[in-house]
Amino acid sequence: MSSFLYHLESAKSLFEPFFIPTIQTILKGFSPSRVSDAAIYSLQAGGKRIRPAIAINSYYANDNYPKPTNDTHLNNLLYLSAAIESIHTYSLIHDDLPSMDNDDMRRGMLTCHKKFDVPTAILAGDALNSLGFYLIRFLDSGDADLLKDCLNYLHEGAGIPGMITGQMEDLEEEGKSEISEYRKSMSGEERLLSIHGKKTGALIIASFLLGNRLRSDFREREVKIKEYAKEIGILFQITDDILDVEGSAESLGKTPGKDANSGKLTYPSLYGMETAKKMRDDSKDKAYSYAIKLESETNQFFKGLPNYIAERKN
Ligand code: IPE
Ligand code: IPE
Ligand code: MG
Ligand code: MG
Ligand code: MG
Repeated sequence: MSSFLYHLESAKSLFEPFFIPTIQTILKGFSPSRVSDAAIYSLQAGGKRIRPAIAINSYYANDNYPKPTNDTHLNNLLYLSAAIESIHTYSLIHDDLPSMDNDDMRRGMLTCHKKFDVPTAILAGDALNSLGFYLIRFLDSGDADLLKDCLNYLHEGAGIPGMITGQMEDLEEEGKSEISEYRKSMSGEERLLSIHGKKTGALIIASFLLGNRLRSDFREREVKIKEYAKEIGILFQITDDILDVEGSAESLGKTPGKDANSGKLTYPSLYGMETAKKMRDDSKDKAYSYAIKLESETNQFFKGLPNYIAERKN
């Protein structure tokens, strides 16, 4: 197993036994309902768990990973990772709704609204969004700044500064909503970069920053982490766009060909497939060079991540 895969799998094996049982325990404290069943259904459907793996590896970085340096930090890291994955899963449930991307398949299973119904899926998404922010209350820290920073990072990733605006811009491009005034003078290239940086990049950046925030040297690393994380976010969505054209339903676990059918602004639609792939490879190299700048000798996860993202099949 490559060193990158070892770090990826180690992070997932820390996260997975914690995630669903913790959420189930929290939700069980409230009256059981169809909506919590729907939320759990989507969380349990799986997914790559790449954002939790990013947060975990962003914390451990060049330390003696996977041994926790102390239990409070490990606990905090797992709650932060659960918050991110909860918010990410909500974004998928809403992204798949008929009035958004209208998808039937997600993570190899029926989408939440197909399995349950549209109102339940809307509310299950809302529930997972609130839950993501609620999970921050379980962080064990006497440091009020830590909690404030974590809430800020989550909002910058998931809220109006990030994903929500990206999703809005994505739907405007498709003609599902009126194009915002501020975007009318932007070129196609600028609009595409803005969509991808926000709808996908922002939550990925937050994943890096949240893990890093638990470190004592978080300030020194933050600028370089952001530079790297921003490139990883763009690379992630260029690859997603390419997979939508070239992937199969079986390997993707979602329906391919959706972007072209709905007239989305994507890397292949704007530049053509050949250039899109060239841009993906350039982005991969750039991200790798940022990883080297950050921790050249030691951080195998950061060094291997660009290639994993570019080469992934789902
Ligand atoms: C899909 O994210 C949505 C995008 C932001 C492109 P992932 O590809 O990480 O989906 P899962 O979590 O593995 O299902
Ligand atoms: C998804 O972008 C971004 C978010 C869910 C926030 P896409 O719409 O391209 O993601 P997929 O392809 O449906 O996973
Ligand atoms: Mg979408
Ligand atoms: Mg979609
Ligand atoms: Mg897509």
